[in-house]
Amino acid sequence: MKNNKTFTMIKPDAMQNGYAGLILAEIEKAGFKIIEMKMTYLSKESAQEFYKIHKGKPFFNDLIHYMTSGPIIAAVLEKDNAVSDFRKLIGNTNPKEAEVGTIRNMYAQSIDANAIHGSDSDENAEIESHFHFSNEKN
Ligand code: CMP
Repeated sequence: MKNNKTFTMIKPDAMQNGYAGLILAEIEKAGFKIIEMKMTYLSKESAQEFYKIHKGKPFFNDLIHYMTSGPIIAAVLEKDNAVSDFRKLIGNTNPKEAEVGTIRNMYAQSIDANAIHGSDSDENAEIESHFHFSNEKN
């Protein structure tokens, strides 16, 4: 999986606030094809495993608590330059710094409750997709 796929999660705040459909529409409008998608919950153990690169950081415990607070939507998306184009579409991790028109600018609440995840590299897109979807075509 190189250059043309990325992985996303619509996070608990966006689900709770009723933004899932609006966010998926933005993703499709921007030219991403949804090739895998499911609504699911992260257990404490699976959230700790998914975010293990952040273990030890001051925000780690809050992040795990928040990501296990409600359902999420996990999806694999396809487009040329998927990872970098998707990070542009979602905007800065901190919604206060996210450009107008980005998903986090429109739908995020705070740096923790920031509405949506996007992989930060092709390598992580592959790892994160396999974490949620074992399908060989990813
Ligand atoms: P995301 O990049 O999807 O995955 C890690 C999450 O940790 C990040 O989104 C933020 O929601 C959260 N987080 C909380 N505080 C910070 C911080 N100071 N720096 C980076 N991420 C943070």
